[in-house]
Amino acid sequence: MQHNYRVAVIGGDGIGPEVTAAALGIAQAAGVALDTTTFDLGAQRYLRDGTVLDDTTLEELRGFDAILLGAIGPAIGDTRIPGGVLERGLLLRLRFALDLYVNYRPFHAVPGSIAQGSSFAIVRENTEGPYVGEGGVLRRATPQEVATQGSVNTRFGVERCVRYAFARAAELTRPRLTLVHKTNVLTFAGDLWSRVTTEVGQEYPDVEVDYQHVDAACIYLVEDPRRYGIIVTDNLFGDILSDLAGAVTGGIGYAASANLNPARTGPSMFEPVHGAAHDIAGTGRANPLAAISSVALLVEFLGERDAAARIARAVQDFEGDAPTMGTAAITEAVRERL
Ligand code: IPM
Ligand code: MN
Repeated sequence: MQHNYRVAVIGGDGIGPEVTAAALGIAQAAGVALDTTTFDLGAQRYLRDGTVLDDTTLEELRGFDAILLGAIGPAIGDTRIPGGVLERGLLLRLRFALDLYVNYRPFHAVPGSIAQGSSFAIVRENTEGPYVGEGGVLRRATPQEVATQGSVNTRFGVERCVRYAFARAAELTRPRLTLVHKTNVLTFAGDLWSRVTTEVGQEYPDVEVDYQHVDAACIYLVEDPRRYGIIVTDNLFGDILSDLAGAVTGGIGYAASANLNPARTGPSMFEPVHGAAHDIAGTGRANPLAAISSVALLVEFLGERDAAARIARAVQDFEGDAPTMGTAAITEAVRERL
């Protein structure tokens, strides 16, 4: 009997609802029955009634098998929402509250991109680091202002992320893992990350382990991206490196991500890395490939490996010019290749 998965859909703002709708159509075409419930959250909702993410909705979301998120955010230049309100109150709140401790971001370079021929993934720690909001401000807006913003790294948090990264690396044809940090300057956190990587690595003798400082990794991602298998890194470095990785592998329009709770104590959340792109919302020009790839990650996590592989392959086989084709034509082209 085919399982009917319950998926919460937060389309969000701008092109978010369009690309998630396209992606859900592909899941259905691939034979995965997703029973979807739409949640109205994001900039538009906040501007309408001041809601970011209420406790009742958060509790309701816990009951789903997975969450698909489109994009959250106001249009560029719209100053009605102070920075951080939606990021911290919605996106990060979901990551923290649902314990989505791994942000898995795979990249398959498209032909013609700088990184052509490369295929690698970033495993970003998703619940700690400078994202926890540790710190504060004193004497604000005076010449004596003091602002601190700490980075929290726990043995528990680092280890579970590193363990996930090794498990993914071990599945590769050529198993390799690169720890990226800044151990020469961030000596306390860097030491913890290095020791944990070395220790967990003992359990994976077949995985080649390498270390790079984050600044050097920025050079290698551009000049020699084919060297990577799995990159494991902290929350902030992972955020920055994944935009760079998206840019060199064909553009952020292709990049998918999975906010995972590998312990499965609740739903995981899947989202394209790109933003709301309000300038093209409603024009039919949005590229749905990142959302479609995110749905492939979603169905894979739900255990539908065959359908996931078919969707991922169809996206990789897509040869059209995504920036000019439009949402409907791209979706149709992917559907034909399933
Ligand atoms: C991402 C985004 C978020 C992050 C923002 C919107 C809070 O840039 O998912 O990469 O920094 O994690
Ligand atoms: Mn980012």
